Amino acid sequence: MGTANVTNSPSREQLGVIILAAGKGARMRSSQAKVLHRLAGKPLLRHVIQASQRLHPSRLVVVVGHQADAVRRICNGDDVLFALQKEQRGTGDAVRAAEEQFQGFRGDILIVYGDVPLLTTQTLARFVAEHRAQQTTLSVLTARLEDPAQYGRVIRQADGQVDRIVEARDASEQELAVQEINTGIYCVHADFLFSALDRLQPTNAQGEYYLTDTVATAVQAGLPTRAVLTPDFYEVEGVNSRQELARMETTRQEQLRRQWMDAGVTLEDPQTVYLSDEATIGQDTIIGPNTHIKGKTTIGSHCRIEGSAYIENCTIGDGVQIYFSVDLRDSELSDGSSAGPFSHMRAGAFLAPRAEIGNFVEVKKSTIGEHTKAKHLAYIGDTEIGRDTNIGAGTITCNYDGFRKHKTQIGDRVQIGSDTTLIAPITINDDVYIATATTVRHDVPAGALVFNRRQEVTREGWTAAKRAKAESHKDS
Ligand code: UD1
Ligand code: CA
Repeated sequence: MGTANVTNSPSREQLGVIILAAGKGARMRSSQAKVLHRLAGKPLLRHVIQASQRLHPSRLVVVVGHQADAVRRICNGDDVLFALQKEQRGTGDAVRAAEEQFQGFRGDILIVYGDVPLLTTQTLARFVAEHRAQQTTLSVLTARLEDPAQYGRVIRQADGQVDRIVEARDASEQELAVQEINTGIYCVHADFLFSALDRLQPTNAQGEYYLTDTVATAVQAGLPTRAVLTPDFYEVEGVNSRQELARMETTRQEQLRRQWMDAGVTLEDPQTVYLSDEATIGQDTIIGPNTHIKGKTTIGSHCRIEGSAYIENCTIGDGVQIYFSVDLRDSELSDGSSAGPFSHMRAGAFLAPRAEIGNFVEVKKSTIGEHTKAKHLAYIGDTEIGRDTNIGAGTITCNYDGFRKHKTQIGDRVQIGSDTTLIAPITINDDVYIATATTVRHDVPAGALVFNRRQEVTREGWTAAKRAKAESHKDS
């Protein structure tokens, strides 16, 4: 998807965009407004906003209505204006709700729906360019369908010029036979648009204000009006049901896999790799089967992800090794670090360069220092560890006392023996040596050895005696 700066074309005026997102989307059978549902991890509406933003419009207005606050919230960070359509009285009424945001605006307005997530900037740019090249007042993007179902039909005059759009519910038998349909995407000169909307009447089967009626208004006024046929219907298709959403997800996943393979990423079994729309992957990274890359994840180059990995909102450097089966969330893995097999990182876990975590190691809100290793069976929470330290198997940082979380500090070159319990808050300074099976309750000064004195007792022949006693009890 390239950028297309249509607004900078010297011959024409500004470009505005209106995205309609006020409807409920009843066929989703959801408590959530349709445009909030996600495709490749990103709300449907944001797909449309981002495809439109790449046209560099001077104004982009999202018309909200149903669950307006939630819809506004997911646009946080997008450079958009909002207009509120209080009652959903039709597509014409929805566009009219945006009029105030276009005070003093001179130019064309591109109108799209918020539920067409596969729409590309290229298709929009081509449509706008054609509209402008022909000095058209109103252009409508159309498609030809085998089964035009409930779509509005595009009725043309004998000479092929567009005449009007008729909704399926209002159409005659003859009109219903027309296979060219209205995609719902328009490019309209602003002056004409808002004056035509002022004159709309809800005289149709649904009693709504139809945006489609502005086509006939333009034709009757003798203004240049065009229907532009697109061959890529899949792009302009809206999501109406969960099944349609699932089909589009399949399409989007295929696109994303192709995109990253073209960029130099190896996917060993592409069909089983799930990719987020907001993820990036570096060159020569190799990704094995059953890998989920979700949210805002960035992966560097020359990484190896063996497979069966769940990775969400993570920042992964270059040359990182991720062995079979991991769950990594909201964490950072620096260059040359490694995780897995069976590692769990969450909520701000950080691996410094060349740090290693292994089998059944859970890390939460902690820093594992440079070249420090925790390779087996450990829980590390709310902890800062320095460099070249070794965390033995079975080490637990006891960060929670039932009331509050406490911090653990571990220095450089520390050796922590297996089965060590560190009771936070606690500081283990540099070069400390903690013997196996130690419970550490107090800070340990640099270079010290720490162990718990516990007597080891051996009773020879104890097992045989115990068994004999048990047998005699059974007989009696
Ligand atoms: C509309 C078109 C139809 C076209 C079809 C393409 C009209 C009258 N008909 O029909 O010709 O073939 O789209 O999908 O325009 N919306 C609002 N506020 C409203 C009504 C709708 O914001 O009051 C938004 C909806 O959220 C949705 C979009 O506009 O994103 C389309 O509305 P919808 O009711 O689905 O229109 P269709 O009946 O499908
Ligand atoms: Ca629709």
